[in-house]
Amino acid sequence: MKNIYSNILKPTKKNLIRAKIALEKGNVIGVPTETVYGLAANAYNTAAIKKIYKIKKRPQYNPLIVHYKNIEAIEKDAESNKNFKKLVKKFSPGPITYVLKKKKKSKISPLVSNNLKTIAVRIPNNKIIINILNKINFPIAAPSANKSKSLSPTTAKHVAQEFNNNLNIILNGGKCKIGLESTVIDLTGKPKILREGGLPSETIMKYLKIKFSIKKNKKIKSPGLVGLHYSPGVPIYLNRLKPFPKGALIMFGKNKSRKKNFFNLSNQSNINEAAKKFFNILRIIKNKKYKSICVNKIPNKSLGKAINNRLIRASQY
Ligand code: TXA
Ligand code: MG
Repeated sequence: MKNIYSNILKPTKKNLIRAKIALEKGNVIGVPTETVYGLAANAYNTAAIKKIYKIKKRPQYNPLIVHYKNIEAIEKDAESNKNFKKLVKKFSPGPITYVLKKKKKSKISPLVSNNLKTIAVRIPNNKIIINILNKINFPIAAPSANKSKSLSPTTAKHVAQEFNNNLNIILNGGKCKIGLESTVIDLTGKPKILREGGLPSETIMKYLKIKFSIKKNKKIKSPGLVGLHYSPGVPIYLNRLKPFPKGALIMFGKNKSRKKNFFNLSNQSNINEAAKKFFNILRIIKNKKYKSICVNKIPNKSLGKAINNRLIRASQY
């Protein structure tokens, strides 16, 4: 029988070199990170970046995150500043992305950030992508490895399901440890959270001893932050206790019910466990073809903020 997932590769020495060569040739590959899987290409190569937008069907106005092996590498392309130095020392490698001014001499393809004067950079905390970054002499641009507007992938199999045979290489790093995308923080002026994510914004706030303004800017600072996103392709209803007929229920917290259309993010009310399972449960519900999804109230603190942000975007279906 033909293995439809023959493009999922174990991260052996040989396969890591295959991945390196593919990136050097300007190809796009699937790689694990601690947050979600990424669709990776050479950030210095415009033709390679074009392929990402095409495969993902991503609108070009939505810029990509660039992944680096360390601070020194970031500082070649981006203007460092006090807050960046402070945060990167404390939280990177990890699930935080910094928006910084792009250096004039930076080799980053203009297509990566839609000709903006800024770039979003992060150091992922995952052995496989760091191993590859250590083998190449350019950073990796990588959006989450899903079709635009769809669910983010937290396993290699999810990536294969999103793109069928469009990717020759998907490195298998198992389940993502965090399960939600990185927190995006704008450091070009007064620090401002642009996207809630895998590192709670409260933790960052406390560390910087700064109160973030949540006031909405008229001008959208992070173009990926509006409209339908993270969608399983069926209607989602928030703060519900029961499902609709033919619908599924996503629960949070202790519940003895074992109905087959009930899915619990965390029996122990553990928000980190919920984050890790979140996209996987939505994908299971999607694959089982339930007609709607009702979701229990999720506490709006720590990673709960990131989960709620994704649910609200997904409920715009
Ligand atoms: O955890 C993650 O961040 C994952 C993994 C693969 O690293 N990546 C990810 O990428 O979530 P993506 O493309 O799905 O989301 C990137 C977000 C978007 O909301 C985009 O608008 C924002 O980052 N972004 C990228 N460059 C930006 C910039 N120069 N200024 C403001 N926002 C930017
Ligand atoms: Mg995404």
